[in-house]
Amino acid sequence: MSISLKNVSYSYRGKYQTVRAVNDVSYDFEPGKCYAIIGKSGSGKTTLLSLMAGLDLPTEGEIIIDGKSTKNWNRNRLRRDAVSVIYQNYNLFPLLTVQENIRYPLDLRRMSKKKATELATKVRERVELSANYDNRLPAHLSGGEQQRVAIARTLAQGCKIILADEPTGNLDSTNTANIVKILCSLAHDDGCTVIIVTHDPAVAEQADAVLQMKDGAWI
Ligand SMILES: Nc1ncnc2c1ncn2[C@@H]1O[C@H](COP(=O)(O)OP(=O)(O)OP(=O)(O)O)[C@@H](O)[C@H]1O
Ligand SMILES: [Mg+2]
Repeated sequence: MSISLKNVSYSYRGKYQTVRAVNDVSYDFEPGKCYAIIGKSGSGKTTLLSLMAGLDLPTEGEIIIDGKSTKNWNRNRLRRDAVSVIYQNYNLFPLLTVQENIRYPLDLRRMSKKKATELATKVRERVELSANYDNRLPAHLSGGEQQRVAIARTLAQGCKIILADEPTGNLDSTNTANIVKILCSLAHDDGCTVIIVTHDPAVAEQADAVLQMKDGAWI
């Protein structure tokens, strides 16, 4: 799915001041490509990603996902079917096993147990985790392994746009390279649109295109 930013701005309105976090940003992200967004702390990266995830609407301008403005998307449907977000702290359910975490979006859709197990197995293999992981709890895994479970869950969900906010922020360089390789392969082999926010030049180097933000705008 494509995602287009058309003169997007966003302001946080507080009681005493307004912060213009995103300032007139336009760009067309294409399916099959892996993008990196870099920029200093406070430059507006997370805000922009949140808008693309449909968590809020731009104050000005529009975000067009699969031909339709996020204004007109049903928000739950957008989050369930189109866009998924991967975070620095993995956001796995601590009381669920690896397989239960991966199956979660499938169980919500009431997919049959047999089908859900098959799909969960397929996506687990896709992120290079063996069947030994299925019954383990997230807390007993390394950071890199937890992030791979999170990516598998996203894959199970079947989302076509993957947004990642500092997905390797807590990982060493070996795990970072592995996660970025997997994320880029989702673009190149599965046709997803992958957008990674990162501070790490090694991550940006692997992307097909690098966008840099400063004070809410591209530079
Ligand atoms: N909830 C909020 N209320 C008011 N201002 C906010 C809020 N969230 C972020 N901001 C401000 O918006 C601007 C952009 O913040 P944002 O979190 O998007 O930056 P970032 O590029 O993701 O930074 P980092 O690299 O530190 O994660 C900053 O000036 C920040 O202080
Ligand atoms: Mg941020």
